[in-house]
Amino acid sequence: MTTIALAGKGGTGKTTVAALLVRHLVRRRLGTVLAIDADPSSNLNLVLGLPLTVTVGDIREEMLAGVQSGSVGTGITRHDFLKSEIRLAVEEGDRVDLLAMGRPEGQGCYCPVNHMLREIIDGLGRAYDFIVIDNEAGMEHLSRRTTRDVDILLVVTDPTVRGVKAAEGIVKLASDLQINVGRVMLVVNRVEGELPPALRQTLDGLNTAGSLQGIELAGLIPADPRVGEFDAVGRPLVELEGTSPAAKAIEALAEKLVRLPTLAGGAR
Ligand SMILES: Nc1ncnc2c1ncn2[C@@H]1O[C@H](COP(=O)(O)OP(=O)(O)O)[C@@H](O)[C@H]1O
Ligand SMILES: [Mg+2]
Repeated sequence: MTTIALAGKGGTGKTTVAALLVRHLVRRRLGTVLAIDADPSSNLNLVLGLPLTVTVGDIREEMLAGVQSGSVGTGITRHDFLKSEIRLAVEEGDRVDLLAMGRPEGQGCYCPVNHMLREIIDGLGRAYDFIVIDNEAGMEHLSRRTTRDVDILLVVTDPTVRGVKAAEGIVKLASDLQINVGRVMLVVNRVEGELPPALRQTLDGLNTAGSLQGIELAGLIPADPRVGEFDAVGRPLVELEGTSPAAKAIEALAEKLVRLPTLAGGAR
C-alpha cells in the first residue's frame, strides 16, 4: 500500500492533481485505488464523476444520535455498526473507490467513536494498492489517522516564489502534526510559459536529495483552460481529453511517482 497525500493552500490545484493522478493509476492498471476526500469543501466525487456519498462525518453523527436514543448498543455492536456503515459509504467506481470524510470531528466526548472510525478506515485502506488523500490546507483529517504514515506528500503550489515559500510552511505543519512523511514533493501548478528567473532560482534551491526535511520538485503542470472549462460546467475532470497539457503533465508526474524507489514493492 502506498499513501499519496495532496496538500497546499486553497485553490492551488490539489483536487485537480488528485483526480488526474487517480485516473492515471486506474487507466494504466497500476493498482487498486482508494481516493479519500479529506476536504469538506472539495467535492472530489464531482471531479471523479462519482455520486455524492454519505460521509464519515454523517456516520459519526448518526452513530451518536443512535447511542443517545438507545438504538445503537455498546462495545462490539458500535464497532460493527460503524464498520458496516463505512463499507456502505465507500462509493465504488470503475476500479477506484471513494470515501468522503465530511466535516472533521468536533470537540467533546466523541473519542471512542472517533478512535473506532480511524481504525476502521485504516483497516479499509490496507486492502488497496494506493490511497490518494485530497486534503484541506490544515491537513486535519490526515493528522487524526491512527497510522499517520504518508509515503509521498505532494504539496501543490501556484507558480510564485511566495507560494513555494508557503510550501515550506506546510511541510513544517506536517511535522508539527507528527505525520510521518516519506518524501515531500512540490508540484507547481498553472505554469504559463517560461518560469520567471526568480522562481526558477527558488526551485533550483530546493533540496533535491529527497531527505525527510527536504522538498524535491516533482513537476510543473501547465495552466490549461480546459481544466477551468470543465470545472465551470461541473464536468468530471476525469473526462479531460488525453491531449490536455495539464492531464499529460500529471500523467508524467504519476509515472515518476510510481517509479520512486521508496515505492518499490509498494504498488504490487
Ligand atoms: N492546471 C490548471 N490550469 C487551469 N486551471 C486550473 C489548473 N489547476 C487547477 N485549476 C483551476 O483552479 C481552481 C482550483 O483548483 P482545485 O483543484 O479545486 O484546487 P484546490 O483543490 O487546491 O482547492 C479550479 O477552478 C480549477 O479549475
Ligand atoms: Mg480541493
